[in-house]
Amino acid sequence: DFRFPHTFILLGASGDLAKKKIYPTIWYLYRDNLLPENTKFVGYARTKQTISEVREKSKKYMKVRAGEERKFEQFWEANEYLAGSYDKRIDYEMLNQQISKFEKGPVANRIFYLAVPPTVFEDVTVNIRNACIAIKGYTRVIIEKPFGRDDVSSEKLSNHLIGLFKEEQIYRIDHYLGKEMVQNLLTTRFANQIFNPSWNRENIASILISFKEPFGTEGRGGYFDDFGMIRDVMQNHLLQILSLVAMEKPVTLNPNDIRDEKVKVLRHIQPIAMEDILVGQYVGNPDGQGEDALGYLDDPTVPKDSITPTYALAGLWINNARWQGVPFILRSGKALNERKAEVRIQFKDVPGDIFDGKAKRNELVIRVQPGEALYLKMMGKSPGMKFDLVETELDLTYSTRYRETDVPDAYERLILDVFTGTQMHFVRNDELKEAWRIFTPILKQLEEQRVKPVPYVHGSRGPPEADAMLAKYNFKYSGSY
Ligand code: BG6
Repeated sequence: DFRFPHTFILLGASGDLAKKKIYPTIWYLYRDNLLPENTKFVGYARTKQTISEVREKSKKYMKVRAGEERKFEQFWEANEYLAGSYDKRIDYEMLNQQISKFEKGPVANRIFYLAVPPTVFEDVTVNIRNACIAIKGYTRVIIEKPFGRDDVSSEKLSNHLIGLFKEEQIYRIDHYLGKEMVQNLLTTRFANQIFNPSWNRENIASILISFKEPFGTEGRGGYFDDFGMIRDVMQNHLLQILSLVAMEKPVTLNPNDIRDEKVKVLRHIQPIAMEDILVGQYVGNPDGQGEDALGYLDDPTVPKDSITPTYALAGLWINNARWQGVPFILRSGKALNERKAEVRIQFKDVPGDIFDGKAKRNELVIRVQPGEALYLKMMGKSPGMKFDLVETELDLTYSTRYRETDVPDAYERLILDVFTGTQMHFVRNDELKEAWRIFTPILKQLEEQRVKPVPYVHGSRGPPEADAMLAKYNFKYSGSY
């Protein structure tokens, strides 16, 4: 309830995620008056520092427009910082006292954001439970991946959390669920009659869900090498998109009804088979400059013999009546030629062709970023005297269609959802379990058999071998992706 005071406690306040993402996000929410009026912020971490030092470090990541200077001062006045250990209860008792000082009235709520390394995760949550639970309101806990590294470690973590908090208190962030076009999947599919009858194996040849990034590890090699591309992006962000593209219509828009359907469709997916995966690792580009010239193994924080994939392409199969036989291709890669995340739903060739094979397939493209868009590639007669076929689009590009509306940032939207208690765009425990069931066997096989990723050049389209995989999955090229 927004009438009552809230405290937002950021654990790991001295870290990278805090300064680059969380401080800016809470500032924008504060600036736009979206938070409850009496919200206070407490940063907590091991580093001994003052709130002005925290402010100094995050400054360059926070936009302050002309006229907002006063508000920005007010924001920092609502902020405190406290140094303490992650494992000692006594330090959390101190934190509790600090928060209590803000809680004057009869009701007061607490939101904890865990921007801490996975190694201290269990200590932090136990101590919050023992020393920092709100007594005059709700306590909610926001957590970030990695949620374990495989089915066993993830389940251990889940059991640990279940022992401490109720599922309604736990907000597992997958920030892709905060993206505009990912949220729009539900309306595209279920508020339009036009797509419903063709959203199935009779009409769809294959579906590509793709994530490309134009830079390498950029010094995050230490974290990345432990996880790799499959765990970093595919098992979470891309699989979440898949479940929204493939699920059946939920009974209502209630968050649990939606998540029930997401889990159901995931349960129909077999663990990924060895023949359905291609892994790659980028090598330096001899013509590149600076970072671009470097390969993954040139990163000093990466072991020289690392076989961690920085690229992966996987084919998933959903064994239900709607999708049997339709390949769902997940593809993710770092150090590629462009930044792009999109879904391509490729329809089958028109049966009984009368155009001498000139008609290309229809494709519904949902571009998540950059530049949100949804367009349907279709065939038309090229305008003019001749009767020629031309490939054209029904194009909904957000920047031209919704000129006046800014698309909110994923983190802003999701953190606000935690204040309002909306769990629709957060990952439920059973979704996570299914995700690991699908991915753990292949991760194990790749690691145990020490499968060497195929090389691809930093800044290229990815490994050339990927084209043959796409062809195998009946995905036809009609552009540069
Ligand atoms: C994160 C991954 O979850 O998502 C990063 O850990 C990746 O490796 C990032 O760069 C991509 O997010 P976005 O919003 O920039 O597409």
